[in-house]
Amino acid sequence: MIGLKVAILGGTGAVGQRFVQLLNGHPWFEIEVITGKTSVGKKYGDAVNWILDSDIPEQVKDLVIVETELRNLRGVDLVFSSLPSGEASIEREIMNSGIPMVSNSSFLRMDPTVPLVIPEVNKDHLALLDIQRKAGVGPTATSPNCTTTMIVLPLKPLDDSYSLRSLNVASYQAVSGAGYPGVPSYDIINNLIPFISEEEEKVERESRKMLGKLVDGKIENADFDVQATCVRVPVLDGHTVAIHAEFEEEVDVEDAKRVLEGFDPGPDVRSLPSSPEKAIIVREERDRPQPRYDRLAGKGMSVSVGRIRRGANKRSLLFISHGHNTIRGAAGGAILLAELMRSKKFI
Ligand SMILES: NC(=O)c1ccc[n+]([C@@H]2O[C@H](COP(=O)([O-])OP(=O)(O)OC[C@H]3O[C@@H](n4cnc5c(N)ncnc54)[C@H](OP(=O)(O)O)[C@@H]3O)[C@@H](O)[C@H]2O)c1
Repeated sequence: MIGLKVAILGGTGAVGQRFVQLLNGHPWFEIEVITGKTSVGKKYGDAVNWILDSDIPEQVKDLVIVETELRNLRGVDLVFSSLPSGEASIEREIMNSGIPMVSNSSFLRMDPTVPLVIPEVNKDHLALLDIQRKAGVGPTATSPNCTTTMIVLPLKPLDDSYSLRSLNVASYQAVSGAGYPGVPSYDIINNLIPFISEEEEKVERESRKMLGKLVDGKIENADFDVQATCVRVPVLDGHTVAIHAEFEEEVDVEDAKRVLEGFDPGPDVRSLPSSPEKAIIVREERDRPQPRYDRLAGKGMSVSVGRIRRGANKRSLLFISHGHNTIRGAAGGAILLAELMRSKKFI
């Protein structure tokens, strides 16, 4: 038991609730502070509109929610931010204060001094934290947008094997991705919405940053074309993405399956408390993955990939990727990243 004191910013939201759920009984991190906006001054158990299928953990029910201000974070060892991106400017203050932070908001994701990391994909980018340390700030790291996670995680071993040239994706995104209460029921039931503000831009820029290379202390974005179409669908949890990837090399479908199946992020990631047994699960059924059956694979931390087939030419591959947006795509991914930062002594 390490017992690091943790603050959750925006703890009543869809992602904040996942943090509360996943940190309950965590071997290293203990929730000490929860912040909010409209819920400030109330006990967590009274303020939160709990939308998860476990009970609210007893340890946080009586915790009084405080303002999202630096003075309320003094004494904590680590901050998890699940603030709306437009309300997250305090993250800059936290970074400058030297309190370790992992954020799910997009506010600092594209800052060239801040690593944007999926532990299985680009743990080497954490070297930016050494540069932050020398500058007397941080450590601050960010987790990607939930849709980008489901794209980049399976692409990593494929890019390593065949070298990605272009990417064309269409997403089918769950309503919990819009937070709580999110999309009005009248808009989404019996419907889908072919527009999610800023989502396509996030997929495009974040995938290039994460698959980019660290050169002389800077991330050089990967140089592939990205086209994305993002659609909200009437599914509660779990983002599905249809991926069409073109590579520099020819791709044999069975070989690609072996590459995905055999993906190993290394013992430093595999041994972390929140690491799933398999980060990528290959499904052979003709109609999987599906949100209802696959969102909780690996306790929500695995990404399931299926319908792997050849595209229009020998260098292209089509497949479906699916993962839990508030677990792997948000709180769970951020906790795994914080565990990696701790194990590498950045925290
Ligand atoms: N949902 C997902 O699947 C997902 C996945 C990846 C990343 N993200 C990102 O994670 C962040 C949170 O998303 P969410 O879905 O959890 O949103 P949400 O359900 O709308 O929750 C927002 C939370 O932030 C708090 N808040 C709002 N304005 C604030 C302010 N000005 N100061 C302090 N606290 C404030 C709210 O507190 P009160 O209740 O007290 O007002 C609430 O706890 C966003 O940046 C989002 O883009 C979400």
